[in-house]
Amino acid sequence: MDTGNIGEPGHKNCNACHFNGGGTGAFSLNPGAPGFTPKLDGVPRGFNFTTGTNVNALPASLALRLPRDGGFGSIRLPFGSFGNIGEIPGVGRVPLEEFNSMSVIESADTAPFFHNHAVETLEEAVAFYGTPAYSAVESIGDAVAGPVPVKISSNPNDPEVQDISTFLRVLNALENIRSALSAGERARQAASLTDVQEIAALGREEAIDAIEVLSSGSLQRTQDLSLILCRARLSAARGALNAASSAGNRAGAEQALREALTALRGSRELLADPATLPASFRK
Ligand code: HEC
Repeated sequence: MDTGNIGEPGHKNCNACHFNGGGTGAFSLNPGAPGFTPKLDGVPRGFNFTTGTNVNALPASLALRLPRDGGFGSIRLPFGSFGNIGEIPGVGRVPLEEFNSMSVIESADTAPFFHNHAVETLEEAVAFYGTPAYSAVESIGDAVAGPVPVKISSNPNDPEVQDISTFLRVLNALENIRSALSAGERARQAASLTDVQEIAALGREEAIDAIEVLSSGSLQRTQDLSLILCRARLSAARGALNAASSAGNRAGAEQALREALTALRGSRELLADPATLPASFRK
């Protein structure tokens, strides 16, 4: 959320392109922002944000000899890819390789990262914004957003990079828990025992995802008691949802689902104060 005055130098600016952890650009919510001129191939500006980040120029992308992907647009570019041409005030026409900035709330769960899967860990994906590949684009600027400077280390082991990655893992787990709770509630309302079992199994998979996300990267070796207890409650929820998914009768399934819901809410409390969460995450 460290965006300053959207795009202000010296900040992280993740929120400028991943608004509230989603895929909307904060810029696109403000059509009055400088640089909102139409592109040559007529792709409209605004809400469905695309931007150049230059993942194509990462050393790993080059070493793997991955073909350059120009993302959106169909104009042949000098790089050899097909992309777009932007008109930047004061700079002129600039070739652009742009991608949608995707939602990052479940990014921890979607390795490998970026459109060409060149990056293996979440920490490296976050530290990408400190690398020369990203700064090269930053200096040209982008026709949609103008330059979006990101002040961050290029080292995946940097404490700040680790903290942001941990934050993204916790967001991911909160989304998994929200989804598991929703499945658990729906299973209780389901018409037949088969439906109860199938929906409970979906919830079980979400609980498993949450445990995995909270056990990877810097959290692998965590000594944080809340996190360790959170994982234990999620394991209890996984077990209870599994029992519900194979229960022989409605009463047994109901009992298991009640236990699962209690364990899931207990696990959520250990990650965030429920009062600070959006309504759909508080149920
Ligand atoms: C200029 C806009 C912009 C800024 C600023 C930005 N991102 Fe991104 N982000 C993108 C785009 C575009 C992609 C997709 C790039 C691609 O696939 O080549 C992306 C991809 C990602 C991914 C990979 C998701 C996946 O599943 O592959 C993560 C994680 C991410 N960004 C986190 C961050 C963080 C953390 C910050 C702040 C330090 C940040 N981003 C700043 C535009 C931006």
